[in-house]
Amino acid sequence: MDMSFFAPRYMDIGAGAASRIAVMLGRLGLNRPLIVTDPMMVKLGLIARVTEPLDRAGMVYTVFSETVPEPVDRVIEAGVRFAADLDIDCIVAFGGGSPIDTAKAINILLAAPEGTRMRTFKVPVVADTAALPLIAVPTTAGTGSEATRFTVITDTETDEKMLIGGLGALPLAAIVDFELSMSVPARTTADTGIDAFTHALEAFVSRRANPVSDSYARAALGLIGANLRAVYHEPDNVAAREAMMLGATLAGLAFSNASVALVHGMSRPIGAHFHVPHGLSNAMLLPAVTRYSLHAALPRYAEAARIAGFAEPEDADQLAGAKLVDELDTINFDLGVPTPEAFGIRRDDWYGRRAVMADQALASGSPANNPAVPDAAAIIGLYEAIY
Ligand SMILES: [Fe+2]
Repeated sequence: MDMSFFAPRYMDIGAGAASRIAVMLGRLGLNRPLIVTDPMMVKLGLIARVTEPLDRAGMVYTVFSETVPEPVDRVIEAGVRFAADLDIDCIVAFGGGSPIDTAKAINILLAAPEGTRMRTFKVPVVADTAALPLIAVPTTAGTGSEATRFTVITDTETDEKMLIGGLGALPLAAIVDFELSMSVPARTTADTGIDAFTHALEAFVSRRANPVSDSYARAALGLIGANLRAVYHEPDNVAAREAMMLGATLAGLAFSNASVALVHGMSRPIGAHFHVPHGLSNAMLLPAVTRYSLHAALPRYAEAARIAGFAEPEDADQLAGAKLVDELDTINFDLGVPTPEAFGIRRDDWYGRRAVMADQALASGSPANNPAVPDAAAIIGLYEAIY
């Protein structure tokens, strides 16, 4: 079997890892970072977790904190203009998935001719080139973006969440310090946690899975399955926070190589059209899409259910698969995941855009990785079913 595997060169994982950022930069021969983050990290002072160690090491840095949730092309282009004339030798992305994805996109555009638009790089184009070494420091558990060769940027002219992938989006290094995630609010903890579980599950059932991605997916399913509820209901549970942070990174490594599938393909248009946070739109879809896909990869889904602790080791595949779908429904209930209707999306808006959303989902390529490959009509049916 031929396979490729992509991962950051250097990852420092564990409590207090952020305090060692200057050590990491030093080993990589870097000392003048541009820190890309969001305004809340600056306002709440959390950014000091990386700036204080840099100050102590005498490293000079610049901060770009204009990132927005669910990043858009205009902010990327503003970041490129901000960074273009700076004396920097690397980018440190600090925050949740949005600042990390923003930093990746800025880095890709910085290497392109001036004035290049973000959409130039959307799949199936391969974005292998970036300007600078990028070090990702996630504060949520999480999108896994610190470990992936993907970034997702919204085209503001077409309302499309564009998938952009290639070596240019793969961080050189990552710092995975669960202590940064201890104060994440409950809603974000739930949404990002379900996103991470979705990464692990979609990578595990993906048509592009390989034995290397499987090993990361299995480890992630176990960690996230056992800790997703705990981290939501007991935000100060250190062991659960640590397990979720590691699980999210491992899930990132898994899907960066095996790709995500139908949940993510259908989720991005929901985010683009209705401004639903990424993890939440995944959560809205996950039970229904799993139910739809189950028959096409039943042994895989059953194994995932057993590893995650949602089924017993002795359960036959049919039973374990049924328990998986039931548990995903129950998790959504327990973690307060609304339907699109309960989220506040009007029925005529949802139904009016479902065909466009289905086209955009198919164009992203992700549905083709799903065990059951849907056509547009099947995707429209699933959008209707979850409303
Ligand atoms: Fe995701």
